[in-house]
Amino acid sequence: MVNSLSLYRASILHFAQATDAPQNDAQYFADGALVVENERIVAIGDYAELAKQYANAHYVDYQKRLIIPGLIDSHLHYPQTEMIAKYGEQLLSWLENYTFPTENKFASVQYCELIAKHFIQQLIANGTTTACAYSTVHKHAADALFKEASLHNMAFIAGKVCMDRHCPSAIQDTPEQAQLDSHKLIETWHGKGRNLYALTPRFAPTSSAKQLSLLGELAQQYPDVFIQTHLSENQNEIEWVKSLYPQHCNYLDVYDHYNMVRPRALFGHCLHLYDEEWQRLSEAKATAVFCPTSNLFLGSGLFNIEKAKQENVSIALATDVGAGTSFNMLNTYGEAYKVGQLQGQALNALEGLYLMTQGPACAYSLNDQIGNLNPGTYADFVVLNPSFNRLGELRCASSFESQANGSSGDGEDILFALSFIGDDRAVEATYIAGTQRKHTLLEG
Ligand code: GUN
Ligand code: ZN
Repeated sequence: MVNSLSLYRASILHFAQATDAPQNDAQYFADGALVVENERIVAIGDYAELAKQYANAHYVDYQKRLIIPGLIDSHLHYPQTEMIAKYGEQLLSWLENYTFPTENKFASVQYCELIAKHFIQQLIANGTTTACAYSTVHKHAADALFKEASLHNMAFIAGKVCMDRHCPSAIQDTPEQAQLDSHKLIETWHGKGRNLYALTPRFAPTSSAKQLSLLGELAQQYPDVFIQTHLSENQNEIEWVKSLYPQHCNYLDVYDHYNMVRPRALFGHCLHLYDEEWQRLSEAKATAVFCPTSNLFLGSGLFNIEKAKQENVSIALATDVGAGTSFNMLNTYGEAYKVGQLQGQALNALEGLYLMTQGPACAYSLNDQIGNLNPGTYADFVVLNPSFNRLGELRCASSFESQANGSSGDGEDILFALSFIGDDRAVEATYIAGTQRKHTLLEG
């Protein structure tokens, strides 16, 4: 491989460390430089300093642009790409009427390959470089997704959905088959390249106790494997879980009983939790995943950001496509902000950025690889151009003027504006492990 050294000049915003106070701890370079050697970042700092040190590097001019770390979407469903924005249901009938029939199409390997391509393209177009994705019940659907992610060298977390009841028989597995397939997928993909595996029981209603028990065995056998599932999204769902698992004191306790509440366990939604459930999530260092567009779309409820913070539960933001209505993580933050507004809770843009970069990277013990722009990490980053259209240009015209002052205020203001008036056009480029992928995709 020919050695490549590049210097990207831009305004740069990221979090170098884990923090409880993103507002105070952001690192911002108004006239900054990011230096990348092959797949990794080797330096970050003021352009004036690094330009001298790296005078031999290939110079890429992104002035009047904002570089941020590649975004992490902590919960979404790749088979649901084509059924985004389907009208008018709440969770359980939405699953029945739209989701299960769509996921049934993934019996075809060719279909999996086709949708995997669309899915990864949407992620990259929107600046998402790491996703925690649900596949379908079919083992080959997960293989197709990991293969496509590998083509782009993404840090990718995914898993085969396990469900052995309360769904159409064509898309049911059994406890034993779910364990066998998940085991094979772990052996094939976990730690292969940048891929990581997530055990994926869909949610308690579609898994028998036997299935959860066999998946729990795997969880214990592989303590660094991820676990992803849904928790307390909808009142009818919660009642159903109570009736299916009457011996458990709450919904989270069902998963806990089967050794699935731990670091790298990601619980989607967490809208109607009891205090004991919040406390247990915190104690176990598990993650509550906040999916604002989905929660609003299905009328599921308002995530209590303040409660999660008070209980010291790690939070991650996610789109939850296809109940979520956008692949764009900045727009997702925009909706999270509105959810906060409805409850008198403030979620500023720096906190929002943290919840889609360094926050989850730290919670998942991946912050030496992703989530920030520290030297040594993979060069996964996004170039935002607020002048992607006339309104963006007008709104952000003065944002790059105060180049001399090192406050993160300008970067924060650009992020905030783009969270409401931006879309994938504001993502000028997406780099993954040092390679520009957005342009490649558009050309291809
Ligand atoms: N609960 C169980 N499955 C799903 C799903 O596919 N989407 C959402 N939003 N909630 C779920
Ligand atoms: Zn989901």
